[in-house]
Amino acid sequence: MSNPTRTNDAANDSWWRSAVIYQVYIRSFADGDGDGTGDIAGLRSRLQYLAYLGVDAIWINPWYPSPLADGGYDVSDFRDIHPAYGTLEDARKLLAEAHQLGLRVILDIVPNHVSDQHAWFQQALAAPPGSPERERFVFRDGRGEGGSLPPNDWYAAFGGSTWTRTPDGQWYLHLFAPEQPDLNWDNAGVRAEFESILRFWFDLGVDGFRIDVAHGMAKDPALPDLGLTEFSVIAGEGQEGHPHWDRDDVHDIFRSWRVIADSYPDPRVFVAEAHVRPGRLADYLRPDQLHTAFNFDFLKCALEADKLREVIDRTITDLAKVGAPATWVLSNHDEARHVTRYGRAHTGVTTPMRDQGHSTDLALGTRRARAAALLMLALPVGAYIYQGEELGLYEVEDLPESVLQDPTWERSGHTVRGRDGCRVPLPWTGDTPPFGFGTFVSAAPWLPQPDAWKSYTAEANQADRTSMLQLYRSALRLRRTNPGLRGEEFRWLDSPPGTLLFERGTGLLCAVNLSDQPIPLPDASSPLIASGPLGKDGVLPPDTTVLLHWD
Ligand code: BGC
Repeated sequence: MSNPTRTNDAANDSWWRSAVIYQVYIRSFADGDGDGTGDIAGLRSRLQYLAYLGVDAIWINPWYPSPLADGGYDVSDFRDIHPAYGTLEDARKLLAEAHQLGLRVILDIVPNHVSDQHAWFQQALAAPPGSPERERFVFRDGRGEGGSLPPNDWYAAFGGSTWTRTPDGQWYLHLFAPEQPDLNWDNAGVRAEFESILRFWFDLGVDGFRIDVAHGMAKDPALPDLGLTEFSVIAGEGQEGHPHWDRDDVHDIFRSWRVIADSYPDPRVFVAEAHVRPGRLADYLRPDQLHTAFNFDFLKCALEADKLREVIDRTITDLAKVGAPATWVLSNHDEARHVTRYGRAHTGVTTPMRDQGHSTDLALGTRRARAAALLMLALPVGAYIYQGEELGLYEVEDLPESVLQDPTWERSGHTVRGRDGCRVPLPWTGDTPPFGFGTFVSAAPWLPQPDAWKSYTAEANQADRTSMLQLYRSALRLRRTNPGLRGEEFRWLDSPPGTLLFERGTGLLCAVNLSDQPIPLPDASSPLIASGPLGKDGVLPPDTTVLLHWD
């Protein structure tokens, strides 16, 4: 491998502990061939931007062949690239170029389900009930007269039943859309296939995987009724004794995956997407399982000092028990962008995928997003940045109904718009759409960008010394140069109600004011970087974070 930073010393083996990982939603990042869809060529052309931003790694959302019924989380071939995104050869070039720049590359693996167009599912449909082909999935006879009712009462995440009937009368399980049949992880062939897929990409040089729906892969074979209402399906994630979320037997799968990751001389890493109840995440991060996980408690938390403090404490304490690093995240491709969320009266996420239609003050949301970003990058030790948050992008809530693609829109009978508003293609340059999304020429982007994004392009951000982009760059630079920020030390200090104050290493403080009054800065401290202007006489205004040198 040509990356000069990739050696096998122990410190480098654990690069992931303190990494800042940038999420690339490839369909919307940059379009190299001008067809209106992002691709690998576009991503390659913007790698310098990411290196200069100062992140350690990128995580690329699914780039495999897919009918895109769920934005690529419906994979039809796990060992290839979607033709709209490029080829395996492009992937090889991307890996080499990213590694040259010192950027690690993490892919997204989707092991809970496949596309209904995947060869395995097509074979299962063609095979009779009880056949080995059907054993790879969860096929059951229905209930009621002639088996015309679904086998149980489970609701799917995007709406409707988790069961779809096949022409021969049996039903198959899908926790998400009908185009995403669930695999049966009790099947040895399924396990062997995914181990081989992991090796395929590790051999190609990828540095790790984000594991989609890690908490959903194991199911109670009895498939008992849940007695839930449709609305409570997501809130039900991780209830004790739940038949498909966060079951204890899921951990065996990850133990065998860890052996594979560790078998490489430059060990590969796993990041869990696991929505579980408090205290359960650490189980996924035991030393013989996955490396890190997204901190959804932090993402969903209201921007209020007491609540944040509780989540931060719980995260650090819980994960320390298994020796796993804490991570922090504010946005991703499934949630409304945090500039928008923080501009609302209720800043927390209460109903994932359904959080829309509230009145929003974008100026307030932006101020708070800046404060939250600096807080996130000051916390120990890992963090995730969702593409476009460094430009200050907001949720596009007024996309025309005709362009909506999230399966939630159809499955909810056109009542829930879904997640397209955080997936709008990035604005790079210029004054009019497509804002340089196509790096040379461009067809209309697959989702339309708002005209107002002319002041949010990377170019406009670059030209403004006080922009969101400059804030992210400066904070990331400080993380690299200040050992206190890169290490794992963390200590709370007393501060007024509605505020947070903590020390990182020796002599580095972070103060966050989420109250409605300015507060004095600690004695003998001098500001290193602030999310907004500080008041006269060294006070910290509301909705502002500052990092301070402290004698
Ligand atoms: C992904 C979603 C996807 C779902 C089903 C989630 O966790 O982040 O985007 O729709 O899994 O694969």
